[in-house]
Amino acid sequence: MTQTTDANPTPTSGNTPSAVEQVKAHWNRVFSEKLYEYGEGPNAYLASFAPRFPNQGRAVALADGYGRNGVFLAEQGLATLSLDISSVGVETTKKLAQKRGVEIDAQVMDVSKWQPEGPVFDVVALIYAHFSSTPDRDYCLRRHIHQTAAAALKPGGLLILEAFRPDQLGKSSGGPKSPHYLYSYEELTEDFKGLEILDGGEVDIELEEGDRHRGLASVVRLVATKR
Ligand SMILES: C[S@@+](CC[C@H](N)C(=O)[O-])C[C@H]1O[C@@H](n2cnc3c(N)ncnc32)[C@H](O)[C@@H]1O
Repeated sequence: MTQTTDANPTPTSGNTPSAVEQVKAHWNRVFSEKLYEYGEGPNAYLASFAPRFPNQGRAVALADGYGRNGVFLAEQGLATLSLDISSVGVETTKKLAQKRGVEIDAQVMDVSKWQPEGPVFDVVALIYAHFSSTPDRDYCLRRHIHQTAAAALKPGGLLILEAFRPDQLGKSSGGPKSPHYLYSYEELTEDFKGLEILDGGEVDIELEEGDRHRGLASVVRLVATKR
């Protein structure tokens, strides 16, 4: 594997069994090589919405890696489910939660298979959760997971997303190296069209998340609620 750490290793269809195994192996290796790849703290955009979280309720962090964001949500008093395909990531999430003195339900899961029990989550976090946008026949992995995330959101809840967009290609501040894994704001508004968008757009920001997400970065952001 020669790609940098954010790069899921399959440039085309991301949902065949072998592609899933490659993604899992890739992230297990990344998270084994370095602890807290993107720092211990939460993503800044996610954290900026904490004042709007309920004092209690439920949160889910999808493709949560080693749990920096899931653990942050748990620290806000939310009963948090953290899902990631990497078993190394999930073990680190459990250790990080223990270190910070919070409980978290961290599970190894391919989120494309996740079936939420209904619209029960007050906060749904999709932070640098990059999935293939290349349709495999009529199925688009990114859209499927985004629609599942929207279905899991409780009315009045917040869905918070930050990801790299195609302008990130060529920058050294992280992110997938395949355009199929990068998102435009237009794609996101289409994926989440059943929700009311509260904030978002395409912005260039200075990332300060560990060694791998550092420097000028081209990202897309979206915060939405369900009425
Ligand atoms: C760039 S990392 C971001 C991790 C975390 N969200 C963060 O911001 O620290 C991308 C994560 O997506 C996970 N991932 C990729 N495909 C996945 C899938 N199909 N199901 C669950 N997790 C997946 C990887 O294991 C990895 O932890």
